[in-house]
Amino acid sequence: MNDKNRKYWELKFKNKKSVWGNKQSRAAELTVLDLKERKVDLERFTLLDVGCGYGRDLAYFVKNGIKQVMGIDHSKEAIKLAKKLHPQISIVEGDVENYQFVEKYDIIYCNFLLHLFSFKKTKTVLEKLYYILNDMGLLYTIVSSEKDDDYKQGIKIGPDVVKNSRGIVKTFYSDSRINNIYGSLFKVGYILFEEEHDHDNRHKHLNYFIICQKS
Ligand SMILES: C[S@@+](CC[C@H](N)C(=O)[O-])C[C@H]1O[C@@H](n2cnc3c(N)ncnc32)[C@H](O)[C@@H]1O
Repeated sequence: MNDKNRKYWELKFKNKKSVWGNKQSRAAELTVLDLKERKVDLERFTLLDVGCGYGRDLAYFVKNGIKQVMGIDHSKEAIKLAKKLHPQISIVEGDVENYQFVEKYDIIYCNFLLHLFSFKKTKTVLEKLYYILNDMGLLYTIVSSEKDDDYKQGIKIGPDVVKNSRGIVKTFYSDSRINNIYGSLFKVGYILFEEEHDHDNRHKHLNYFIICQKS
């Protein structure tokens, strides 16, 4: 499964380069807004972007004053592109499941990653991320909502697991699923938000923006 997943992303980045454009995602904007509302001293915070792709959101976090950022992605093509676009940002190639993290972080950010994993794998990855988050640290994660069109129109292949028209298998979340999976480890808050993409064809997604705090 991991190899198939990695090959899919290698091809995607090789053919399309900056798949979602070079502007930051809406999720990164929501993350910065939330951090500013908390009035934290961003200059002293460290951030890890898991599944950072070609680094569009990492660049935005740096622009907004977070001094120490790092990204990890398992796609060689994404890393190559990220190093070209943002040579000043530290990005490593690795699979979040088996990468041996040595540092702990104040913020972990995962945009559009965890809904690509089964619910079981998500729980395992979350336990790993919990461990490398500092006390009171924040995990921001964005996953698909069961209110998204892909959920309604795709092919159901398991409980809340659907293959969409672009052939991507995703898990879909409800409020109770979030509380069950994320709430068992973290103090959790979430909102629904809409984001439009141009890749493959123009389409909208309805996602959950989830804020998890380690207490
Ligand atoms: C939907 S893309 C989002 C990319 C980036 N977060 C963004 O918003 O621009 C998912 C990313 O996760 C990466 N990815 C998928 N599975 C991974 C894994 N097991 N470990 C590390 N990265 C992974 C893919 O290579 C891809 O770059």
